[in-house]
Amino acid sequence: MADEEVALHGGLVNGVVRVGNTVRRRHSGDFSVQHALLAHLAAKGFGAAPRFLGYDEQGREMLTYLEGHVPVGEGNFTDSQLAAAARLLRAFHDATVDFPLVLAGGHEVVCHNDWTPTNTVMTDGVPTGMIDFDTARPGLRLWDLTYSVWTWLDFGEPRWDPAEQRRRMAHFIAAYDHPSCTPGLVTACLPGRQAGRAHWAEQRGMREAVDWCQQCMSWTLDNITAHFHPDGLH
Ligand SMILES: Nc1ncnc2c1ncn2[C@@H]1O[C@H](COP(=O)(O)OP(=O)(O)O)[C@@H](O)[C@H]1O
Ligand SMILES: [Mg+2]
Repeated sequence: MADEEVALHGGLVNGVVRVGNTVRRRHSGDFSVQHALLAHLAAKGFGAAPRFLGYDEQGREMLTYLEGHVPVGEGNFTDSQLAAAARLLRAFHDATVDFPLVLAGGHEVVCHNDWTPTNTVMTDGVPTGMIDFDTARPGLRLWDLTYSVWTWLDFGEPRWDPAEQRRRMAHFIAAYDHPSCTPGLVTACLPGRQAGRAHWAEQRGMREAVDWCQQCMSWTLDNITAHFHPDGLH
């Protein structure tokens, strides 16, 4: 008997189901770069990403299912969870420095570009898996780390004390541990990343997402960026 299909929730974009030990994702477009990336990661021994298994009879992408818990809508991560998330992102980036497209274009790494808790698999409360590589492209460590700082720490959520958020950010960046990513650089990059995300949502008519990004950006400018880069105008 064929395995039953179980809907998986958490994503905004693709209809995703689990079939046995595989995940099937219905999407259109050219994902050859992503599939080459997953093969590259497997060859490098990076075990935290799914493997691409080809397409099924319905034309859906088939990936290995990563066992664990996906923290959809969760936040409030502990220092050790944040450090593990940052180290996993670092290990992913390090595994991509010799990806052919990175070498050919003189890039630094491949960016996941959407590495949020929702695109993470946790085992025993520790981030151990990365999923949803649709947006992966060559780029800068700083660009990718900045987005993960925003989303893993929930910058913009008003209940957090700004000083505590700055402490958690320093902790996240220290765990990533690369000279190209300092708190000064991350805080300079954050508003650009948030504005870019707002623009992306606006182009797709996603009003709620636009408002959320803008609210996050304004909180970040006031409480994080201005702290590292005072403008001297007050
Ligand atoms: N390889 C995988 N292993 C385990 N769960 C997965 C895997 N791929 C997707 N999922 C689950 O399906 C949800 C949606 O998948 P995702 O690839 O993020 O799609 P979307 O592009 O819609 O965001 C995820 O939040 C996760 O719960
Ligand atoms: Mg997703």
